[in-house]
Amino acid sequence: MKELLELAYKARANAYCPYSKFAVGAALLAKSGRVYTGCNVENASFGAGCCAERAALYQAVSCGEREFEKLAIVADIVGGPTPCGICRQALAEFGSLEIITGDLAGNTNKYTLDELLPNAFLKFAPGED
Ligand code: THU
Repeated sequence: MKELLELAYKARANAYCPYSKFAVGAALLAKSGRVYTGCNVENASFGAGCCAERAALYQAVSCGEREFEKLAIVADIVGGPTPCGICRQALAEFGSLEIITGDLAGNTNKYTLDELLPNAFLKFAPGED
């Protein structure tokens, strides 16, 4: 668990965030045992930016993953950042998972996606399609 936070911390170093100056790193552990990392990538056209969590998720899905165990997220905010609403919805497509957040001072928090996004809108049960 600490290891996943460390990978998220390292991924944060690649954040491209010249507009917000708020760097975020994420590390997503798939059931395969592989870890996929992501950072936020902003854009002059603000809506084209992507959060670290979705960058990691889309990287994982692009590599054939569909099932996930844990997500670690690191940013310079007390206790670490919880994922935004869009990221919660994007993650819920693939089922619930554990979410660990961390700040730069080592404070952490633990959640489940189910608790952060109860009664998520889904067209299929995860894994059903
Ligand atoms: N951001 C993330 O990458 N993840 C979060 O959990 C919260 C917000 C990004 C989006 C934007 O690039 C910057 O942080 C400021 O909101």
